[in-house]
Amino acid sequence: MIDQQTINQIFDAADIVEVISDFVTLKKSGTNFKGLSPFSNEKTPSFMVSPAKGIFKDFSSGKGGNVVGFLMEHEKLSYPEALRYLAHRYNIALEEKELSAEEIQQKNERESLMAVTAFASSYFSSQLDTDEGRTVGLGYFRNRGFRDDILKKFNLGYSPEKRTAFSEEARKSGYKKSYMVKTGLSIEREDYVFDRFAGRVIFPIHSLSGNVIGFGGRTLKSDKKTAKYLNSPESDIYHKSKVLYGLFQAKKSIVSADRCFLVEGYTDVISLHQAGIENVVASSGTALTTDQIRLIKRFSQNVTILYDGDEAGIKASFRGIDMILEEGMNVKVVLLPAGEDPDSYAQAHSSSEFLEFIQKGERDFISFKTELLLADAQHDPIKRAQLITDIVKSVSVIPDGIMRSVFLKESSLLLGVEEQVLYTEVNKIRQRKQEQQWRREQSGNRQQIQQAPTIIPKQPVVPGFVENVYSEVEEREIIYFLLKFGNMMLHIRGEENTEISVAQYIIREIQNDELEFTNLIYKQIFENVEELIEHGGEVAERNFIYHDNAGVRDLAVDIFTSRYELSKVWKRKEAYVEMPGENLGFEVPKSLLSYKMTVVEKALSQLRKELEKSEKKQDIETLNQIIVRIQSLEGIKRELSLGLGGRTIIR
Ligand code: CTP
Ligand code: MN
Repeated sequence: MIDQQTINQIFDAADIVEVISDFVTLKKSGTNFKGLSPFSNEKTPSFMVSPAKGIFKDFSSGKGGNVVGFLMEHEKLSYPEALRYLAHRYNIALEEKELSAEEIQQKNERESLMAVTAFASSYFSSQLDTDEGRTVGLGYFRNRGFRDDILKKFNLGYSPEKRTAFSEEARKSGYKKSYMVKTGLSIEREDYVFDRFAGRVIFPIHSLSGNVIGFGGRTLKSDKKTAKYLNSPESDIYHKSKVLYGLFQAKKSIVSADRCFLVEGYTDVISLHQAGIENVVASSGTALTTDQIRLIKRFSQNVTILYDGDEAGIKASFRGIDMILEEGMNVKVVLLPAGEDPDSYAQAHSSSEFLEFIQKGERDFISFKTELLLADAQHDPIKRAQLITDIVKSVSVIPDGIMRSVFLKESSLLLGVEEQVLYTEVNKIRQRKQEQQWRREQSGNRQQIQQAPTIIPKQPVVPGFVENVYSEVEEREIIYFLLKFGNMMLHIRGEENTEISVAQYIIREIQNDELEFTNLIYKQIFENVEELIEHGGEVAERNFIYHDNAGVRDLAVDIFTSRYELSKVWKRKEAYVEMPGENLGFEVPKSLLSYKMTVVEKALSQLRKELEKSEKKQDIETLNQIIVRIQSLEGIKRELSLGLGGRTIIR
């Protein structure tokens, strides 16, 4: 914690023009300063700094704020980090909150580890100036075509052949053996320590703020028995699944290009930099992780995967695509010719050729998958179906409803499949996932797992959005069938061998969709029937005619004494009227369907109202959630209307 007094002192001392000038070339223009926006790729300056007001405004991106805001935005620092940065720049002593003994120890430990890795990094790069280092290490890099400025930029280095060279040097310089071992730089045996990276060229791995936290070491031998790369082990300062190689060097350019290239290896990152493409990172040493994707997301929403064109590369990019989509980001793919990686390609071509290749070869993920798979799926219906499933699966992980529909439109065109069909599939997958998640959360509380799809998911996407969905007429119709014909037997199409009573059927349908009657009298009746059936009983008139609830009594008398009752649903729709009871197998399902349809329609109209509200409020988050919900209900509605259309006798 930095106290308020110090914060004020920092703001007083910080000269916004001076601070921003470290990152942007500013020219005086009247009382203000002007420069090219660091947040976009503009040609005419629209970035303004007002020293009088202490603020900046970037007209190309709309960003603006004070000096701390600039650092947070540009350097991706947190608020306290930005304050610390300024305090350091203006020599202001920070009064930070006192740390507990444990915190101090932890901090000291991390700092000690970091001190060793910093020492090691400068040791390894200085080795490029020794006789051995020049011939072996530097020779190797030169051979690969790496320029000196690039070697510097990435602090590349060399660890001498002699197995104890580094460890001895570190001990001499006063570093504790335990820290050398914990960072993995040295390996301890009973009576001696030796170097992990001996005889290898070194690729230091930087944290976001530029500290060296780990290393990759490449062997110079070509025999298959030696691992090509050795990497630092996990330590308190190095968690490989949370680090991206090259991000420290790339972050500014990722922000200004608003795109991040994702490659597989250390050398790919380096060669791309050398070719002038600096917005590039690698998930070195691990398969891509979600944590790494989220790291990129802090700087840009747009990722272009740039992998080998071989089978492994394609497989890895398929996996990457879905993970990136799942984070709500945009993903494109460029495949290199098989057998080439970005490094070899960049080395063999000029920068402009490479850029052109990327521009021409860049595909959004749908055309990428389609192009790859359609080739041999074109005339094979099974493979085609697999391709469709595959794309639908990718689309279904996208959290944003609008983005999903954009991609569905595209896939519909490319695959020649109706958009509606794809929608329904995507909604099914999403619904299934929601249900699975819900079940996972509920498991333990419930022994019975429901089989049928849930029409109104127990957990609405936006809780509280769908309330009071009632439909008096339809509810009453169902209660009518339940009481009057509850004990009659039905055969259900597709379930040839089962006989089921009308009451059992209705209960099953209502339970599967977790619907609840809103009229309390109907609700009471339904629950009583449920209980009777559960205990193996039947719907008996006396249970209701002598019910202790007067409302239930009256209704029951009404229903049981009527010779027949005309269907109000049908009457309302001005269709001709049939006498219920004569064709129960048709009437009962239909009445359930129209009940569900009404519920869905009412929920939809409520959601549309909510949609309008959040559109007005520009509440994008809620907006998206509502759209998702609407789309899934639309899908259900379509399915229901198919059922209705198939059975209805109404014109
Ligand atoms: N890698 C690793 N351990 C290995 C092999 C690979 O950690 N034994 C990681 C490295 O980060 C490497 C990346 O996976 O950069 C990609 O591997 P590969 O394509 O084999 O290496 P390149 O980066 O192409 O290295 P080079 O061009 O020097 O062969
Ligand atoms: Mn390579």
